[in-house]
Amino acid sequence: MPATRVLTGITTSGTPHLGNYAGAIRPAVAASRRPGVESFYFLADYHALIKCQDPARVQRSTLEIAASWLACGLDPDTVWFYRQSDIPEIPELTWLLSCVAGKGILNRAHAYKAAVDRNVEAGEDPDAGVTAGLFMYPVLMAADILMFKTQLVPVGRDQIQHIEMARDFAARFNHLYGEHFVLPEAVIEESVATLPGLDGRKMSKSYDNTIPLFAPPAELKKLVFSVLTDSRAPGEPKDTEGSALFQLYQAFATPEETAEFAAAFAAGIAWGEAKQALYERLEAELAPLRDKYEALMARPGDIEDILRAGAAKARALATPFMAELRAAVGLRDLRSTPASGGKAAKAKAALPQFKQYREKDGRFHFKLVDADGRELLVSTGHESPREAGSLVARLKQEGAGLLRHVEGVGVHLGEKLIGDLAEGVVLEQVVEALARLAEDA
Ligand code: TRP
Repeated sequence: MPATRVLTGITTSGTPHLGNYAGAIRPAVAASRRPGVESFYFLADYHALIKCQDPARVQRSTLEIAASWLACGLDPDTVWFYRQSDIPEIPELTWLLSCVAGKGILNRAHAYKAAVDRNVEAGEDPDAGVTAGLFMYPVLMAADILMFKTQLVPVGRDQIQHIEMARDFAARFNHLYGEHFVLPEAVIEESVATLPGLDGRKMSKSYDNTIPLFAPPAELKKLVFSVLTDSRAPGEPKDTEGSALFQLYQAFATPEETAEFAAAFAAGIAWGEAKQALYERLEAELAPLRDKYEALMARPGDIEDILRAGAAKARALATPFMAELRAAVGLRDLRSTPASGGKAAKAKAALPQFKQYREKDGRFHFKLVDADGRELLVSTGHESPREAGSLVARLKQEGAGLLRHVEGVGVHLGEKLIGDLAEGVVLEQVVEALARLAEDA
């Protein structure tokens, strides 16, 4: 089975905190070690510029985030680990996608809409303080994803819309220029921990309630001791439910340790003692990672080298793909014979088409689409592209007359089940499309 491509972007505008670690870094590093996946992790520093215009901070955050992921065990030899701004093909693709992306779709993007709503509420001009960068955020993100033919993008709920937009732009491009892009899917991580912060709300930079992942031990201890608790005295039973302290402990402990901690709560452990236990649990997991982190931070040149090597590895895929895309849209060597363009292309575009593709299960399929891109017939899966191709050839040559549709089963060519009609399509439309193709041949 071919490997599944999984891609994650990390915006470089802050310092990693415990919430990022438990919610993103730790699960992602574990996932990158599973067989059968090709993992892409990149530092989204172009995205950082949208919300952070402090150059020193962007640089510092890029270094800290790269060092954090490496310290937490990401292996740059087995994954693709690179910095977005080292891949010039990404802004180049952003432009090609900008030219197919519907402005109306971008108008509906949550982050942009929220900014506009805030302005309207404040009685300001709707676009006051809104940059074109914020507006274009989803297009840049689509370029990140589509560049590497990503199949799966693990995201929080707030990002689902961006994946849908990436699919939309990809489908529009494919419809205009042929099947170049893989349509990505969002994977929603339900089970992943969201940690409470110092004040009990979700740990987040915007609430200023975070515990930095690699705070030195004394600071870590101080912050843990400042986690909000209720006023119950030592000896009084304590609730685990709704306790930030308990949830933080749980995210770093085994189920057995967590059960013991719960028992101690019921038995009336003093808050001071519970905080000490949490601090020790955190320190046990983080101390070895912190040592690695500090060693890495002391050698920024080594991180720079790792990222540049990662960029070279990523560009080995991006450069040829970009060349293919440039040719597809007509940005071509003038000496090359126009393969399609002008009238020929229009005539061709106005015909139904067979499209062959490979599904995630590794099998080869084809579909017949109408002149306007509407799906008519979707095939069953085949072992090889040749097998699928020969069936396409047969359909073109002898198809129409031998086709039958059996309700609830599918479309047969002679005795052979070859696929099914797309939703809302009747067999006549398929027959007609094949006839048009035959006329043109
Ligand atoms: N928008 C993402 C975030 O804020 C970061 C990001 C940029 C990203 N490009 C991406 C995530 C591509 C997944 C895929 O978290």
